[in-house]
Amino acid sequence: MEFTAEELAEVEKIKAKYPNSDAAIMPLLWKAQKKWGWISDDVIRYLAYLLQMPIARIEGIASFYTMYFKKQPGRHHIQVCTNVSCMLHGGEEMLAKFSDKLGIKSGETTADGAFSLEEVECMGACGYAPMIAVDEEYIENLDINKIDEIIEKYRS
Ligand code: FES
Repeated sequence: MEFTAEELAEVEKIKAKYPNSDAAIMPLLWKAQKKWGWISDDVIRYLAYLLQMPIARIEGIASFYTMYFKKQPGRHHIQVCTNVSCMLHGGEEMLAKFSDKLGIKSGETTADGAFSLEEVECMGACGYAPMIAVDEEYIENLDINKIDEIIEKYRS
């Protein structure tokens, strides 16, 4: 597991933007996740090597933020916000409906690997509650009746 020479050049550019390597951890975790799909222990070890810092420092950041996946997600990762604004606008019902339709609970992946589901905290779009994210697409002001349509759209 390694970045290509071109990717390593980008890593150096990212590192050069910051006064110290700590600040490069998050963009490099994101870059690694884009490449390998999730943040495995091997990825953490590799980034620790690239940044010349203790594994625990990378691990601490990766485990704190839900945007870094600690296990292989489905081909489409559905995040359902159930924090205050979204909860008041039906976020928990949305989560229950996704769970029912997909046959999985938060933290699980469908048997065919198509979808993973995750209940998350506020994603910063409270004014558009209730909202979810599918992969990197935010779907705001979600109508619970659109859930079947959303699943079908991403299944195809
Ligand atoms: S509470 Fe759901 S995006 Fe903020």
